[in-house]
Amino acid sequence: MSPSLCSCNSQWGLLITLLLAPLLAAALMVGAHGGNFYQDFDITWGDGRAKILDGGQLVTLSLDKTSGSGFQSKNQYLFGKIDMQIKLVPGNSAGTVTAYYLSSQGPNHDEIDFEFLGNLSGDPYILHTNLFTEGKGDREQQFYLWFDPTKDFHTYSVIWNPLNVIYLVDGIPIRVFKNNEAIGVPFPEKQPMRLYSSLWDAEDWATRGGLVKTDWSKAPFTASFRNFQANACIWSSGKSSCGRTTTGSGPTSNGWFDQELDATSQRWLRWVRKNYMVYNYCTDVKRFPQGLPPECLHS
Ligand SMILES: *[C@@H]1O[C@H](CO)[C@@H](O)[C@H](O)[C@H]1NC(C)=O
Repeated sequence: MSPSLCSCNSQWGLLITLLLAPLLAAALMVGAHGGNFYQDFDITWGDGRAKILDGGQLVTLSLDKTSGSGFQSKNQYLFGKIDMQIKLVPGNSAGTVTAYYLSSQGPNHDEIDFEFLGNLSGDPYILHTNLFTEGKGDREQQFYLWFDPTKDFHTYSVIWNPLNVIYLVDGIPIRVFKNNEAIGVPFPEKQPMRLYSSLWDAEDWATRGGLVKTDWSKAPFTASFRNFQANACIWSSGKSSCGRTTTGSGPTSNGWFDQELDATSQRWLRWVRKNYMVYNYCTDVKRFPQGLPPECLHS
C-alpha cells in the first residue's frame, strides 16, 4: 500500500488545499512565537554536522559514516502546540532515521515521537510514531505519507494538552492519544519536555526491518528544518508560564489548550488510518497475548 497506489490522491490533495488554506493563513497571523533557531535551540551533537543558516531561519542536520547530528530546544514545555517544517533526506535515504520528538528526562520519562524511516529512492518513507508515559512506550503506530516528504517542507505538529496528544501532518491529524487516566493509563502531564531533533543511522532496523542497509557512498545525508513555532507553556524553575487558569488569554488564547478533534478532523483521521496506516499496536493481538493495552479499547 504505497501512497501512489491511492487513486483518490489528487482529488484529496485538492480538497486538502481548499479546506486548509484559510486555516493555515489564520495560523500564520496569530501571535505564535516564531522561530529563530539561534534563540530557541542548542546544537547538541554532531561536531559541525548540524548547521544554523540564513540568520537563524534554517537548520540542516547531516549524517555520514562517522556521526549524525542533532539539536534540542532551550526551553522546556509543559503542554503546547509545537510545529516544525521538515524536508527529509532525499534520494537513497535507506537506513537513516530523522527523529523529531518531545521528551522529558530520567528513567520514568514521557516522550512523544515522530521518526521518519528512510528508504531507497522512490520507495516510501515510513512515519513511525510512539508515545511513552512514565518510561513505558510500546505504543507504535506507523504511516506512509500522502506526498513525497523529500521534495518540499511539510509541517509536523504536536498538540499536547491535558485532554489529549494529537499528532498532525500539514494540519491533518494522524494519531490521537487521549487522556485515559480515569482507566489507569498514565498521561504525560507532570513532566516538562524539550523538543529534540536528530539525524542518525539505524540500518539495523529502519528500512524493511533492517534488510536494506545504508549506502554510505551517498553520504552525507541531509535533512532541513524551518518555521519552528511554539504556542506553549514554558516551564522554568518549577513553574509553568501558563496553566488552566489562563485559558482564554496569553498563549492559550488560540484554542490549543482544550483542543480535541471535531467531526471534520475525525473524518481526516479515519481517512489517514484507512489509506496510510502501516502498523498499529492496538490491532497487534499477537504481541499482546494477555490482552490489548487498555487505551486501545477506549479510543
Ligand atoms: C520501503 O519501501 C518498501 C517497498 O515499497 C516498503 O515495503 C517499506 O515499508 C518502505 N519503508 C521502509 C521504511 O521500510
